Amino acid sequence: MKKDIAYLQTKKQQHQPITVLTCYDYPTACMQDAAEIDIVFVGDSVGTNILGYKSEMEVTMADMLHHLKAVRRGVTYAYLLVDMPYASDRNTKQAVANANVFLDNGADGIKLEGGTEKIPIVTALTEQGIDVCTHIGHNPQIHGTRASTHGKTVAKAKELIQTASALENAGAKLIVLEKITEEISQIITDTLDIPTIGIGSGRYCDGQVLVINDILGIGTPFRHAKRYQDYSQLTLEAICQYKQEVENGDFPTDANVVHIAADKLARIQKWLEAER
Ligand code: KIV
Repeated sequence: MKKDIAYLQTKKQQHQPITVLTCYDYPTACMQDAAEIDIVFVGDSVGTNILGYKSEMEVTMADMLHHLKAVRRGVTYAYLLVDMPYASDRNTKQAVANANVFLDNGADGIKLEGGTEKIPIVTALTEQGIDVCTHIGHNPQIHGTRASTHGKTVAKAKELIQTASALENAGAKLIVLEKITEEISQIITDTLDIPTIGIGSGRYCDGQVLVINDILGIGTPFRHAKRYQDYSQLTLEAICQYKQEVENGDFPTDANVVHIAADKLARIQKWLEAER
């Protein structure tokens, strides 16, 4: 069954955790879909995790589109969410045009960062029938890559709770809570009807999202992430072993080569002799 917003909403109502992972390429998309991840998310973290950029602010619409198309080819059942990159949603007209480019290329919904200043954009997108996931707390496009925790003071906590409600009222279908204190994330989750997806925001969100590179052990994960595999070490070992085997003449072996039939080879050798 293809997952949609109604499916995710039902999971919230039934207190079943929603699973989300970032994804940037076709083979990983196939694996996430096979594992029945609910939301496969082409995040703008592709910039720092895959493209070697220094910050999310360098990511362009063209970058996102390239990776969205690859991920789309690998996803059949998951809800496919894509990030609006930096400065792609400066006004409603631009946001609607860019979101439609993503929908035309297979996205099920778009995510955008920001607080109440984004309400006109969320409203405009919703009026066009576009699923919008909002994103509050730490916003890499606004605050930069180094994340500090939000919602530690009474004033900031109240602001986060009010902002979340205002974005829901504007039509948001999902909301990412990034680096928000666990207690305030829980209050937001209990207050809103729409699902909350936490990252570094504790145990009581409706779902969790992590960056795929962090769980695989590619690069240095943030403290909120958990490393399930040491992919960098495994890859480095494989590369070193390959290099050594090529240099030693241990690769390729007969198992890795294709032969021409002996009678055909004999004919070629005869032909070569005649040519000399
Ligand atoms: O791009 C990203 O990785 C994000 C996180 C919230 C998962 O936006």
